Amino acid sequence: MGIVIRDAYVVLPLDGKDQAGIHTLYVEDDAIAGIDQKPEGFSEDTVIDGKDRLVIPGLVNAHTHTYMSMMRNLADDLSFTDWLFNTVNPIEDRLSGEDAYWGSLLGQIEMIRSGTTTFNDQQMHIHQTTKAVMESGMRAVICRGLVGDGYDRSDRRLQEALEEMKDGERSSRLSFFIGPHAPYTCSLDYLRMCADVAEELGLGIHIHLAESRVELENMKKESGCSPIEYAQKAGVFRVRTIAAHCVQVSDSDIRILKENKVSVVTNPASNMKLGNGFAPVPELLSAGVNVCLGTDGAASNNAQNMIREMGLLALIHKGSHQSSQCVSAAETFRMATLNGAEALGLPTGSIEIGKKADLSILRLNTASMMPNNNPISALCYSADGSEVDTVIIDGKIVMRGRELLTIDEERVYYEIRSMLRRLGLL
Ligand code: NI
Repeated sequence: MGIVIRDAYVVLPLDGKDQAGIHTLYVEDDAIAGIDQKPEGFSEDTVIDGKDRLVIPGLVNAHTHTYMSMMRNLADDLSFTDWLFNTVNPIEDRLSGEDAYWGSLLGQIEMIRSGTTTFNDQQMHIHQTTKAVMESGMRAVICRGLVGDGYDRSDRRLQEALEEMKDGERSSRLSFFIGPHAPYTCSLDYLRMCADVAEELGLGIHIHLAESRVELENMKKESGCSPIEYAQKAGVFRVRTIAAHCVQVSDSDIRILKENKVSVVTNPASNMKLGNGFAPVPELLSAGVNVCLGTDGAASNNAQNMIREMGLLALIHKGSHQSSQCVSAAETFRMATLNGAEALGLPTGSIEIGKKADLSILRLNTASMMPNNNPISALCYSADGSEVDTVIIDGKIVMRGRELLTIDEERVYYEIRSMLRRLGLL
């Protein structure tokens, strides 16, 4: 199967910088097979006219909880403790696997519609999430959120997670991490066990670290160390680690993150909405830490729109640091694409021959994108996601002309409304 995208503005990584120019792309099977030069033996089934179109690598949402999309706008303007322990957790406890499936599809609709092709998901129900991913055509890294005490390999949640992961062997679009929730919900021994299991299975770790001041203060009081030091002590960083938030980190924590090659996911909307503050993104970047971008779940954002998130990321640090040169559009674009893909160990995140064909095509002939003076700036400062016209994941078109080809949207909305009525939430 071959797709040609002819004469579009394409963002390519040239000389270490992302640059937009007019190019023709050739997609063969699941990969980018040619740029401006037709590969030998290439046969085209689909031609996309690139006039007034911008092609970018599909955005990588490096931290979310897609099932939470069904909780959108149910838990707002609350303290972090009230939000998590008194509102979100009690709803979560009542959700079935089927509910998580529809919630995940709702999140995936919103992501595809705003140009995201990959997401890193911490879940309660892996089995139903992999089913949703198989159907939607998205690329996903999934982990079961784990909480517990003690070094106990027979732990129910861990065993369920390992069992459910077997489902994922069916698609190259699916991969798995081990997902200890956070140091404040996992004992040191439990974290140590998660790290051992991840190491043995050759999997990465997806964890929340240093999200709030309360977490930092409690950890210091109870264990005498910061959440970053705690995770290091448990041996978590022996394996590939992607750490969400890292808002409350000291210079010494940043050094630990850098030395241990931990990737940090910043979630600006979630951190602001829950009153947790701003991650020190400029400081992390200048220390050489791989920083990527995520939305977090829709219960704390309340959107799954990476273009909106890029806009926030590119602006908030300029405001908080009173510096117009802080966190540029170019840096933001990297955090939303290649940095996320590298953190997850995926061959995506940039448009290069041989990489997987995960592409988002935006309209340039809209009021928000006109005139086309600087497409990367436009993505960060002008776009809202509605410009995304066509999305290709793993070489397959999943949305064309804003019509979703893999998910029955109306059915998903119907099921979400029914679920909320059943739970007494609507
Ligand atoms: Ni989270």
